Amino acid sequence: MSRHVEVLYDPETIAERNRALAEEIVASKPEKLVVIAVLKGSFVFAADLIRQLHHAGLAPEVEFITLSSYRNATISSGHVTVLRDVETEVRGRDVLLVDDILESGRTLAFAKDLLAARGARRVMVCVLLEKPNKRAVQITADFVGFQCPDYFVVGYGMDVAHAYRQLPFIGYIPDAE
Ligand code: IMP
Ligand code: MG
Repeated sequence: MSRHVEVLYDPETIAERNRALAEEIVASKPEKLVVIAVLKGSFVFAADLIRQLHHAGLAPEVEFITLSSYRNATISSGHVTVLRDVETEVRGRDVLLVDDILESGRTLAFAKDLLAARGARRVMVCVLLEKPNKRAVQITADFVGFQCPDYFVVGYGMDVAHAYRQLPFIGYIPDAE
């Protein structure tokens, strides 16, 4: 695939927002923090964010969870499963779930409930992008990178059918679909 991708947020804009997000997260005074990146889409964002958290004075444990609801489709199937679980104990700890996009909210609502049920002290949610008017379940993100227009976006870790994750910016493909 090598279609033209239109830039929505360039690398400098993303880096600046990540710095500010890290300050917001520090201001929430997290204790015994474990950052849990929701794979795969959040891996680039999470990698940048944890280094900004370091600059902002935090030393979180970093974990990963792989959830799937989308498969190769661009429309949510509405069914979330754990493909790979975290390896750490979250009981009594503050958790920061990091994901790429909050859309229907099903993925993050599922993850939030799962970690709360395991006894996390507080489960906070940080998303790179929030798509408005798309929520199917009640969930709000505590930290949001950007309010995103209603495009199918790619790059900066995000894909369509496994392509475009390597792009250093967030973009969309004009006249996709
Ligand atoms: P939801 O909030 O449960 O609907 O799921 C959001 C997830 O769907 C994100 O974490 C992405 O993995 C995927 N997703 C939703 N919109 C897009 C998009 O525009 N580009 C790439 N992935 C998307
Ligand atoms: Mg995802």
